[in-house]
Amino acid sequence: MGDKLKGKNAIVTGAGRGIGKAVAIALAQEGANVVVCDLGGGVDGSGIDKTPADEVVAECQKLGVKAVAQYGDVSSFTDAEAMVRACVDNFGSIEIVANIAGIDKPKMIWNMTEEEWDQVVAVHLKGTFNTTRHAAPLMREQKYGRIINTVSEAFIGGPSHLNYAAAKGGIATLTYGAARELGKAGVTVNAICPRAWTRMTADDKVIEGIKKRIEAGLMPADQLDRMMNELADPSYFAAFVAYLASPDAADINGQVFFVSGTELGHWTQPTIDTKVTRDWKTEGPWTFDEIVKLVPSKLLVDYVNPAPAQTEKK
Ligand SMILES: NC(=O)c1ccc[n+]([C@@H]2O[C@H](COP(=O)([O-])OP(=O)(O)OC[C@H]3O[C@@H](n4cnc5c(N)ncnc54)[C@H](O)[C@@H]3O)[C@@H](O)[C@H]2O)c1
Repeated sequence: MGDKLKGKNAIVTGAGRGIGKAVAIALAQEGANVVVCDLGGGVDGSGIDKTPADEVVAECQKLGVKAVAQYGDVSSFTDAEAMVRACVDNFGSIEIVANIAGIDKPKMIWNMTEEEWDQVVAVHLKGTFNTTRHAAPLMREQKYGRIINTVSEAFIGGPSHLNYAAAKGGIATLTYGAARELGKAGVTVNAICPRAWTRMTADDKVIEGIKKRIEAGLMPADQLDRMMNELADPSYFAAFVAYLASPDAADINGQVFFVSGTELGHWTQPTIDTKVTRDWKTEGPWTFDEIVKLVPSKLLVDYVNPAPAQTEKK
């Protein structure tokens, strides 16, 4: 047991299983009191079960901290408010929000239903907004807060679940922007981009899906082998979230960190890597003919199309 988070109170969403559970325990190991928020659903968001949250509450309490369960749905604005309220009512204040709850409903874009899109975006992106929205005024007032969000490597466009990938991209943007809005008040907002052995990655159906994507050329041939070798239990990197949640990370804000059992990394924000310029006042507008020449010769030198057409050129 450490004491880096002694006197701090946290809500952790998705804390019943996987990464959220490991993070809740890591925060408790450093002395934080924890609201364990989890509705206990399946990977695809179906069903509810109070057992996972209750079990993590018991594990946290064994570590000598206070812990209570919340079984609400992060995609509901009012349930998220109840999570924040539970922290204040039970422990007196809220210093830490770890947004980790997530689901996955993979489909190619041409097969995805409106409901599959809406549900996944609601849990990840709206869920992250919801808890942040309710905690932010309290954190601003007390001039202290730590918000840690969860993105995924899919956020750069991971195929076959663009509902999930786009929501994660939205969370990255939310992280960058909320950090700028809240930083002055002593509230930091960062994100982890994890790679861990959980039911979301190690399930038989997921592994079958990866095999199919490799066969279809959508993922590198060694993707599955790499995954099997690299994926460790999330408890191996959960201390990184405890660090971000601590006073030690006061000056770390608006950053996205890759975290796994084997590697820690830092994601840069997208930047413009190449430019061509013109003086529009003297040279006039870009013309189609110029653009046709400029794009391959100046803007996209060494560029590789991520999915070249396999059909005849029209
Ligand atoms: N496992 C990985 O390698 C990996 C990689 C990238 C990103 N992530 C992200 O990490 C987070 C945790 O994933 P995991 O692998 O631990 O998955 P998991 O399925 O083991 O755990 C997710 C937890 O979130 C809970 N949950 C789901 N929807 C909820 C809702 N609406 N309200 C409250 N709780 C809800 C579930 O009940 C479950 O306990 C997710 O956001 C996921 O997208 C995981």
